[in-house]
Amino acid sequence: MMLAMSDASPSRSGTERSDRRPRALSGAQPTADSYHLGNYFGAFRQWVALQDEFEAFYFIPDLHAITVDYDPALLRERTYVAAAQMLASGVDPERSALFVQSHVPEHAQLAWVLNGITGFGEAGRMTQFKDKSSRSGTDNASVGLFTYPILMAADILVYQADKVPVGEDQRQHVELTRNLAQRFNHRFGETFTVPEAHIVKATAKIYDLQDPTSKMSGSNASHAGVVDLTDTPKQVAKKVRSAVTDSGSEIVYDPATKPGIANLLSIYSALTGRTIDDVVAEYEGQQYGHLKVALGDLLADFVGAFGDRTRELLDDKGELDRVLAAGAARAREVAAPTLELVYERSGFVRPA
Ligand code: TYM
Repeated sequence: MMLAMSDASPSRSGTERSDRRPRALSGAQPTADSYHLGNYFGAFRQWVALQDEFEAFYFIPDLHAITVDYDPALLRERTYVAAAQMLASGVDPERSALFVQSHVPEHAQLAWVLNGITGFGEAGRMTQFKDKSSRSGTDNASVGLFTYPILMAADILVYQADKVPVGEDQRQHVELTRNLAQRFNHRFGETFTVPEAHIVKATAKIYDLQDPTSKMSGSNASHAGVVDLTDTPKQVAKKVRSAVTDSGSEIVYDPATKPGIANLLSIYSALTGRTIDDVVAEYEGQQYGHLKVALGDLLADFVGAFGDRTRELLDDKGELDRVLAAGAARAREVAAPTLELVYERSGFVRPA
């Protein structure tokens, strides 16, 4: 008996463990008209790769999206685009639960409980909050933006997730999640699985094509260096051809001295599945321009096919609604018992 118990991972709670597959969970905010290449390589590719081995939960965090100024009609439209782009990336609703965060009330309910065990200073140290709030001035930032990482922790913990596939910029939030899970378990008894970030180094941070020292982001001042998944093939080829590259002319992979070329090589490698060394060898002795034209063409083909698939999916909103409803139903089957356990452990009297 003792042996069997010590076989279990120490990070797991006592409930329903050994008989299930490990779980993966992730989300991507619907705060732009489209996801970009950073989201695709940093996140969606990894989501898709984990679907076989893991029981996967992927969702559109609409509750997170309202922590900054937004337009309700636009949010509704962007939520559908988000779902379509996740599906176009290869998220398979037969294998993964794909859903909208606000369809599963347990996220917000658990977030409230976690708010009670999170320190004000601890939340204030989140670099993403500091960055985002400094843009509008801290006085204008919402309380929701401040408490945003705690809702993210709830997103993860309510599914007892083992792995969280994200880009580098979410590492600190997953670290906070681990701390909160451990704290709750310590104070109230083993309840949560302590999750791990799953960050694939090669694509953990895709950089802006115009400023290869900052990450590609929908909120970058100019969109010239951001490849959106809704861009036309022509736009994409142009963006890549106009990418800022470095001094010198030799094509070598050196992120420290040649961040522009390194970024293009990373994207090239991720898109084709070839190693960076292999790509560098192919372009030996050639100019930056050759690499840019070739990558521009490859990416143009990629967004062309991706855009077609997305539009097809968006043409049938009824089907998208069905997929999202089925995903939310599956999600609630897992989230509801976790919340019940948390409420019991928290000392709440349960309805008779
Ligand atoms: P978000 O919406 O900013 O980004 C979605 C995913 O894309 C990754 N990403 C990138 N990866 C590589 N290079 C880039 N330039 C790049 N830009 C974005 C992000 O790391 C992320 O994986 N807080 C989250 C959303 C969220 C979430 C969650 C994630 C809410 N709840 C629970 C995981 C688990 C966010 O704002 O990601």
